[in-house]
Amino acid sequence: AATRHYKFEMKMQNVTRLCHTKSIVTVNGQFPGPRIVAREGDRLEIEVLNHVHNNISIHWHGIRQVRSGWADGPAYVTQCPIQNGQKYVYNFTIIGQRGTFWWHAHISWLRSTLYGPIIILPKKNTPYPFAKPYKQVPIIFGEWFNGDTEAIISQALQTGGGPNVSDAYTINGLPGPFYNCSTKDTFKLKVKPGKTYLLRLINAALNDELFFSIANHTLQVMDADGVYVKSFETDTLIITPGQTYNVLLKTKPHFPNAKFYMTARPYVTGLGTFDNSTVAGILEYESKSKSKSHLKNLSLFKPLLPALNDTTFVTNFTSKLRSLATPQFPANVPLNVDRRLFFTIGLGTSPCDQNKTCQGPNGTKFSASVNNVSFILPTSTALLQSHFFGQSKGVYKPDFPYSPLHWFNYTGNPPNNTLVNNDTKLMILPFNTSVELVMQDTSILGAESHPLHLHGFNFFVVGQGFGNFDPIKDPSTFNLVDPIERNTVGVPSGGWVAIRFLADNPGVWFMHCHLEVHTSWGLKMAWLVLDGKLPNQKLPPPPMNLPKC
Ligand code: C2O
Repeated sequence: AATRHYKFEMKMQNVTRLCHTKSIVTVNGQFPGPRIVAREGDRLEIEVLNHVHNNISIHWHGIRQVRSGWADGPAYVTQCPIQNGQKYVYNFTIIGQRGTFWWHAHISWLRSTLYGPIIILPKKNTPYPFAKPYKQVPIIFGEWFNGDTEAIISQALQTGGGPNVSDAYTINGLPGPFYNCSTKDTFKLKVKPGKTYLLRLINAALNDELFFSIANHTLQVMDADGVYVKSFETDTLIITPGQTYNVLLKTKPHFPNAKFYMTARPYVTGLGTFDNSTVAGILEYESKSKSKSHLKNLSLFKPLLPALNDTTFVTNFTSKLRSLATPQFPANVPLNVDRRLFFTIGLGTSPCDQNKTCQGPNGTKFSASVNNVSFILPTSTALLQSHFFGQSKGVYKPDFPYSPLHWFNYTGNPPNNTLVNNDTKLMILPFNTSVELVMQDTSILGAESHPLHLHGFNFFVVGQGFGNFDPIKDPSTFNLVDPIERNTVGVPSGGWVAIRFLADNPGVWFMHCHLEVHTSWGLKMAWLVLDGKLPNQKLPPPPMNLPKC
C-alpha cells in the first residue's frame, strides 16, 4: 500500500455561470475541486491550507475513518475549523473500502462550491466483480447559486424562513443548455461505440434528490455508496445528496455521430417550492469517418424523467437495491441487537426570537429535529476534543433520547409534534454496541424525504415502509440476508427506514440530513462511540496540528 499526498489550497476564484460571475472559495482554483484517487489500503495525507477569510473544514464523505476520527472533518464535531492562514493535514487510511466517495466542505454552506470526487480503486490484482470498464468517468451533480450561499443561509437562519433556491443544477459544475446563457457550459462525454464505461455518480447538490437518465441507454447499477450490489438494469436512477452509485454504461455497437442528452432534475423539492429545472449534459459518439458535416443537424434525444413527485418510482428503485452478499463481499448484518432506538425526524417550528420578524409559518422560525432535539453545535471547541480531554461540561450532555420526547403518532393528518428543544446531546454507545435504529419521518411540514447520512460507519437498510412504524409487525419483514449497505439513506416522507450498524469505531460521529437547509435548521445529532478495552480498539490522540477554535 502507498501513501498518497495531496495539497488543497483554499483560494478565491472568479467563476462565471449563467452569465453571472462571482468569487467563490475553491481548492487550488478549481471548480468543481480536484479528484482524489487511491487504492484500498492506501494512506492519504491531504494538506489543507486556508488562504481565504472563511473558516474551512473538509469531510471525506463515506470514508469510514477507522480509528482516525480526527480526520473526519465536520466543523465543531471532530475538529475546530481551519482559520485563515492556518493549515491542517488530514491523515487517514482506506480500510476495507473501494468505490466512489467524495469530499466536501463541512461548515456552513461552503460545500456549494467546495466538493470533488474520491475514487478508491480495488487493491492491485483484485478484480471488480464485473467486467473491467474501458473508461471511468466521474459525474458529480451540484447546484449553482448566483448569490453568495453564506449570505443566503445566514439570512434564512436570522429570519427563520426558507432560503432561496439555487439558480441551476449542474453536472461536473456545468448547468447545460436548458438554462439561459449556459449552452457553452455543457458537460460532454465523448464515447466510442461498443465499449463499457463506468460512470461514478455523486450527488453533491445542496438540497435536492435527483432523477438521472441518459436517453436511449440503460444503466447497470454495480454499487451504491461504495458497496457492491446485485446488479440490475435501469433507465433512470434516483440519487439523494450524499449518495453515490457506480453504473455501467454500454455504448451501442454502431452509432457514429449520434448525440444523446443525459439529464437530471429534482424529486419533490423543499416546502412546495417545486423546481422544474433540468440540467443536461451530452453523450456524444465519436465519428469514425472524421467528417463532422452532418453532425450539426442531428436532433438530440431527450430522456423521459419521472414526474417531480413520483414516489412509486423511488420506492421501486430502492427496493431493488440488495447487497452483493457473496463470500468475497459478504453482508455482515448485525443479527443480534444490543440497543433499539426510535428517532422521529422532521421539520417543525420554534418561537421567533424577540424583536425579530420571522418568515416561518404563523410568524415562527423553521426548525428541524431528531427526537424533538434541534441540535446545536458548540462554537468554542469540537465535540470530539471535549470528550477526549474530559472537558464535556458545558459543551454537551450524554443523554440523547432513545425515543421522541413528545410522542409521535402518524395519522395522515399533520400530527401535533412540532415542538423542538434546542440542545447539544450525544448518544453514548459502548464499543461494539450493535444498534438498530428506526427513523420515522413526521412529515409535518412539506413532503420531503430526508437523506440521512451517518459518519464513521456504513449501515444496513433492513426495512422501510410508509405510515407509522409498527414495532410488533414490521420487524418480521426485515431483510437480514442481503440488505443494502450504505452511508446515506432516503427516509421517505411520511414513512420510516430501519437500519443496523455495529459501533466498532471509537469517536464522535455526526448523523444528519444531507439536505443542507435541514441540517442548518437542526436535523442533526451525534453519536459518541467509546473506546474498547484492547489497544486497537481505542482512538489515538489527536495530531499535533489539530486546529484550535
Ligand atoms: Cu457529506 Cu456530514 O456529510
